[in-house]
Parts: sequence; structure tokens; C-alpha cells
Amino acid sequence: MSVSAEPMSAPVREQEPSEALRPHAEDAFAEELAVLAAQDDRPRPARWKLSPWAVATYLLGGTLPDGTVITPKYVGPRRIVEVAVTTLATDRALLLLGVPGTAKTWVSEHLAAAVSGDSTLLVQGTAGTPEEAIRYGWNYAQLLAHGPSRDALVPSPVMRAMAEGMTARVEELTRIPADVQDTLITILSEKTLPIPELGQEVQAVRGFNLIATANDRDRGVNDLSSALRRRFNTVVLPLPESVEAEVDIVSRRVDQLGRSLDLPSAPDGVDEIRRVVTVFRELRDGVTSDGRTKLKSPSGTLSTAEAISVVTSGLALAAHFGDGVLRAGDVAAGILGAVVRDPASDKVVWQEYLEAVVRERDGWTDFYRACREVSA
Ligand SMILES: Nc1ncnc2c1ncn2[C@@H]1O[C@H](COP(=O)(O)OP(=O)(O)OP(=O)(O)O)[C@@H](O)[C@H]1O
Ligand SMILES: [Mg+2]
Repeated sequence: MSVSAEPMSAPVREQEPSEALRPHAEDAFAEELAVLAAQDDRPRPARWKLSPWAVATYLLGGTLPDGTVITPKYVGPRRIVEVAVTTLATDRALLLLGVPGTAKTWVSEHLAAAVSGDSTLLVQGTAGTPEEAIRYGWNYAQLLAHGPSRDALVPSPVMRAMAEGMTARVEELTRIPADVQDTLITILSEKTLPIPELGQEVQAVRGFNLIATANDRDRGVNDLSSALRRRFNTVVLPLPESVEAEVDIVSRRVDQLGRSLDLPSAPDGVDEIRRVVTVFRELRDGVTSDGRTKLKSPSGTLSTAEAISVVTSGLALAAHFGDGVLRAGDVAAGILGAVVRDPASDKVVWQEYLEAVVRERDGWTDFYRACREVSA
């Protein structure tokens, strides 16, 4: 017997979205999504809120015919976004792969928000993720009182997405134990979720798909079985290709985050942002930006995401304890913290970089001094 796709209740909101510390993408960008939906006259796949074209525009940004500006959420190759969006309209699931901080989670959230209008059908993968988190669990009070029934069943986010024709998200897929990962095989190939206890099943309705993210560096922890990998189209998110691109990403995000934290915007901070990004890129790449000096790389990832948090903390320092302008002294401690993860080996790498590169660089004296001060 097949269970009808009756809508299951959404989580109850405890507060207005605008008061949330971190609103969901569909709330934070509700206006943009509404304008896109109103102007979008291209065909939409079943239960999609927007056409694939409009979803890509939402992610990459652009100007609509009426002049409305859609802000870019993801800065990177257009083709990557087009392939990701197109995949969601097929019967294959989407796997976003990449090194830490390449916006896998961010892109997954915005895709779900634009396609289904809801990014909250989320399973967070950890070493302890049980099968119930992907399939369903039971409300034990109900189960003991009345035996197994649909009322006693607690659907997982994936089950809800199947029943309602929405986008489900699985974060950090490769951290989930292999046998639990394999639960997804039936879901993705048969598009059904059996409930043996009730002799029932939930069949996915049109519009259902799944976005998983996985970290390149975690590979080997719990590799994806090849059976599962075949159910996914893999899209690799690259590191930003140039300093300019990375500065652009960091500035945009810092501006957004700063506004939600009531920090002053940083029109004068862009030089300091460029410096943070340059230091991170040079240490990450193991060579200075002019290609002349080889460097040792520290153990941390020094991702774009970390650059964003270094600059955001720096802005908070400048706002609360400085004159509001982001300066070398406001980012130095943050950089040190991001670079020196392992107190022994990373400290040596950092000292070498400081003396051989930072010290010699024109216009970097203030930064050198600030770094010396916090490194001492
Ligand atoms: N190319 C990019 N375009 C826009 N934002 C980016 C880009 N790269 C990184 N970011 C920003 O970096 C932050 C962190 O990204 P996110 O958490 O999605 O990374 P991740 O790939 O999921 O990392 P992890 O592997 O650690 O989970 C986000 O705030 C995002 O805005
Ligand atoms: Mg992530």
C-alpha cells in the first residue's frame, strides 16, 4: 500500500525571521525570490518555485528586465551553477564537492531556497548520524500507547521532502557511516522509502531531489560507496581563481554579516581585506603572489570562509575599540589564530613568512609591526 503525499507539518517558528540571528536564505532573500518568481516566464519543473534559469540568476546575480538587481550569492564559474541547477531537474541527485570553505553548504542552502522555497529539510551528517535521521523515527509515547501507526512515525527531513516534492539536503555526506549512507541508495534509485513496520511506503512525488555536500579533505574517512556515487552528479566547487575574486567574495559577505551584527560598513577596509586574502592565498599556495619565493604551508585550511571570519572580527574590534576603520592591528590577531593551528610547526612557518615576506614588502610595515606584536 502506498501512502498519499499528505503534507506534514513544518517546524514551528518561534520568532519573526527578521529577528533570527541567522535567517534562512528564503527569508533573508525573500524579496529577491518574490521578484524573480513574478517576472519568471520560463517553464518550471514540477513543484519548482522558479525556472532553472531564474534559479541560476538568483545564485549568480543579475539585472532583471524591469531593472531589479539580484545580488550574487555565489561568485564563481557560471557553468558550475548551471550544471548544478540542471542536475536538480533530473532524476539524479547533486553532490557538491570541494575543499573546506568553498561555499558548498552556502550553495546548497541557496539552491534549496530557490528551487523549493525551503532550505530547512536538512540532515547534518556526522559519525553518529543514525539511519533514523535519513529514514524516520518513532514517537515512543505514541508507539507504546497505540502501537506503530502513521501518527507515531516521526518523518526525517528526507521523508518529508519525498512526500512533498521538495529539495532535501544532506550535509557532510562522507562523515556518515557507510551503512547509514547506503540508506540513500533505495531512496535515490527507487524513489521510495519503505516502512516495513506499517507495511507501507512513501513514494517520492515529482519535485523531490537531494543535495549532498562533502569535503575533499575528509576523503577516506567514510568514502562514498560506488553504488551511491553513481546516483549523484558531482559538481566540484573550486577555490576562488584570483585575489580579486576572493577579495570580492570576502567583502560582500563581510558587509552582509556586518549589517546583521550592526557593525559599521567598511568602505576603507578593502586594503586590509586584500592583505588578509593575499596572506591566506600565499600560505595556502606555498608561494608568494609574484611567484618568486617558495613558502611552507601551515596545517590549517586558510579558506575563504576563514578570511571572512578574520575580517568580521577585525571590523568588530575596529568598531568597538578603534576608530571604526579597519586597520592592520585589527586583523593581525585573527590571522595569527587562523595560521597557527599547531603551536609547534605552524609557528615556525608563520615566523619565516613574517620575516622573509611581510617584513620586506613595500607598504606592509604597519602590518609587520602589528603581527610582531601579537606573535610575541
Ligand atoms: N565562491 C564563493 N562565492 C560566495 N561566497 C563564498 C564563496 N566561497 C566561499 N564563500 C563564503 O564562505 C562561507 C563559507 O562557506 P561554506 O560554509 O558554504 O563552505 P563549505 O564549502 O561548506 O565548507 P566546509 O567544507 O568547511 O563545510 C560562506 O559564508 C560563503 O558565503
Ligand atoms: Mg559545509
